[in-house]
Amino acid sequence: MDIFTAIKGRRSFRNYLSTPVEEEKLKAILEAGRWAPSVMNLQPWNFLVVKNQDIKTRLKASCQETLDKIYAASGWKWVSRFKLDFLTEAPVIIVVAGDPKKTGADQFLPGRGTGYAFSCCAAIQNMHLAAHALGLGSLWFTLFETDKIKAILNLPDELDVVGMVVLGYPASPEASINRKPLEEMVTFID
Ligand SMILES: Cc1cc2nc3c(=O)[nH]c(=O)nc-3n(C[C@H](O)[C@H](O)[C@H](O)COP(=O)(O)O)c2cc1C
Repeated sequence: MDIFTAIKGRRSFRNYLSTPVEEEKLKAILEAGRWAPSVMNLQPWNFLVVKNQDIKTRLKASCQETLDKIYAASGWKWVSRFKLDFLTEAPVIIVVAGDPKKTGADQFLPGRGTGYAFSCCAAIQNMHLAAHALGLGSLWFTLFETDKIKAILNLPDELDVVGMVVLGYPASPEASINRKPLEEMVTFID
C-alpha cells in the first residue's frame, strides 16, 4: 500500500473481533513506531503492549471513571453514551508512555517542554498507519487519567502516558467521516 492510500484510508475503529493480532504484524507496527521522528532523536517513548485480559479490564474500569468525570464536568451527551467495550474486546492495546525529561531544547522556553509528547504522537501515528497497511483496525485513545494508568501498569512516576493505540481486526465497518476542504486550512504565504 502506498503512503497516500494509507494516510487517506486509515479510519478509527471502536468495535473489534477477538481474533488475535499476528506476532509478525505486531512487531512490524512496533517497528513503525520505533522509526518515528523525535526531538533530538531522543526517542522518548516506551511502548507497553497489553494483551492481558485482567489488565485490559482494569484499564476499562479506570477509563469509565474518567469518562464519568468528563461527563460530570461537560454535560456532553455523547460522553454519557460512549462505550469502552473496545478496551476489553481488542486483542492488543499499545500504551505509549513518554519521558518528559527527553524533550529537547524546548524545555528552556516558557510554556513548552512538549517535544517528548509530540514525538510520542509521531510514533503513535506511524503505528496507526502501519496497522492500516497490514489490514488491521486501530484507535487513538486518550480518555484516561495518566496517574491511574501508571498505577495499573506499574509505570515509573516520571513517565507520562501520552496515548493508547487500540489494535485488532474490526468487527464492523468504519464510520464514514470526512475532512474540511483544503482551502479552509491552508494559507499560502508567498
Ligand atoms: C490526539 C487524539 C486523541 C484521540 N482520542 C480519542 C479518544 O479518546 N477516543 C476516541 O474514540 N477517538 C479518539 N481519537 C480519534 C478521533 O476521534 C478520530 O481520529 C477523528 O474522529 C477522525 O476520524 P478517523 O480517525 O476515522 O479519520 C483521537 C485522535 C487523536 C489524534
